[in-house]
Amino acid sequence: MFGKKKTKPQIDKDQLELIENAQKRIKQKKRLYIHFIIFLIGAVFLIIANTALGIGKDITFFGKEWFLFAILIWLFLLIYHIFSVFIIHKFMGKNWEKAQLDKLINKQQERINKLKQGLIKEEALVAQSEVYKKTITNNANLTIIVAAAENNAIGKGNQLIWHLSDDLKRFKALTNGHYIIMGRKTFESFPKPLPNRTHVVITRQKNYNAPNGVIIVNNLEDAIDAAKTDSQPFIIGGGEIYKQAMTLADKIELTRVHHSFEADTFFPEIDDAIWKETENIFHKKDKNHDYEFSFITYERK
Ligand SMILES: NC(=O)c1ccc[n+]([C@@H]2O[C@H](COP(=O)([O-])OP(=O)(O)OC[C@H]3O[C@@H](n4cnc5c(N)ncnc54)[C@H](OP(=O)(O)O)[C@@H]3O)[C@@H](O)[C@H]2O)c1
Repeated sequence: MFGKKKTKPQIDKDQLELIENAQKRIKQKKRLYIHFIIFLIGAVFLIIANTALGIGKDITFFGKEWFLFAILIWLFLLIYHIFSVFIIHKFMGKNWEKAQLDKLINKQQERINKLKQGLIKEEALVAQSEVYKKTITNNANLTIIVAAAENNAIGKGNQLIWHLSDDLKRFKALTNGHYIIMGRKTFESFPKPLPNRTHVVITRQKNYNAPNGVIIVNNLEDAIDAAKTDSQPFIIGGGEIYKQAMTLADKIELTRVHHSFEADTFFPEIDDAIWKETENIFHKKDKNHDYEFSFITYERK
């Protein structure tokens, strides 16, 4: 039990490979050496065969005896052999291949690691924004309501660009009795507050004056918080507020006006990867409506 331990010779994989490579190199050099000796003997033999034994005495190329060309061709092969042993196998042999392969594997591994890190970060961000959204929206059915042209134009000079009475009727019907959240500029574009709706106005101004009943807040999160008792608060614009609310809203009630307009305020692009269309109702152009439009509902996927 306490006898001497037998020590096994420890040769790892790399050492074994080095030994195998060294053996191969020795073999290659041996073969080259033998080739060189055979070449010397062969060349002497060819010279004797032609000059002393008279073999092919009459055969000449370009006025020179044939053995000279035979020796030259053989010499060329020998030089190629030397080149292959000392240059090609030295730089492009197994070791070189292995080094290239290792480099490639390392690069791929680096890429995989970077992708993994990116994915983890992205997952964390998604999780964070989900938690954030749940916290501040209190799971409400936060809805963006907007009328946007084909080029996403929504306003110019702090005014709407079109008058579509059926769109206004729909806006009134949908938002009636609910909280409507808006930026200070949109609020100021109304002649007076809209009846039967609770206005929440977002401004950075600390002492903003507004009529009684209008709730003033200093950021979008506080606006959503102010509307938390409502089962469906609406974000009604304008451009700045839509942009900030896109990541928080659950639904978009879009009136897509089928025309392009010059504007100074635009709605953000609706990303198909995030939003799915659940309803689409087309409205024709008629004497009360200068443009065709569609009522499109999007829900977060
Ligand atoms: N087509 C439609 O459906 C539709 C709907 C609504 C509006 N619109 C149009 O949109 C245009 C107005 O949009 P807009 O982008 O110019 O202005 P807006 O979004 O209505 O209001 C911008 C203002 O909101 C406040 N604000 C924005 N982000 C804030 C934040 N994070 N914290 C605190 N306050 C913040 C700032 O007010 P202070 O400067 O006071 O700090 C800012 O100047 C108008 O032309 C209007 O007619 C169109």
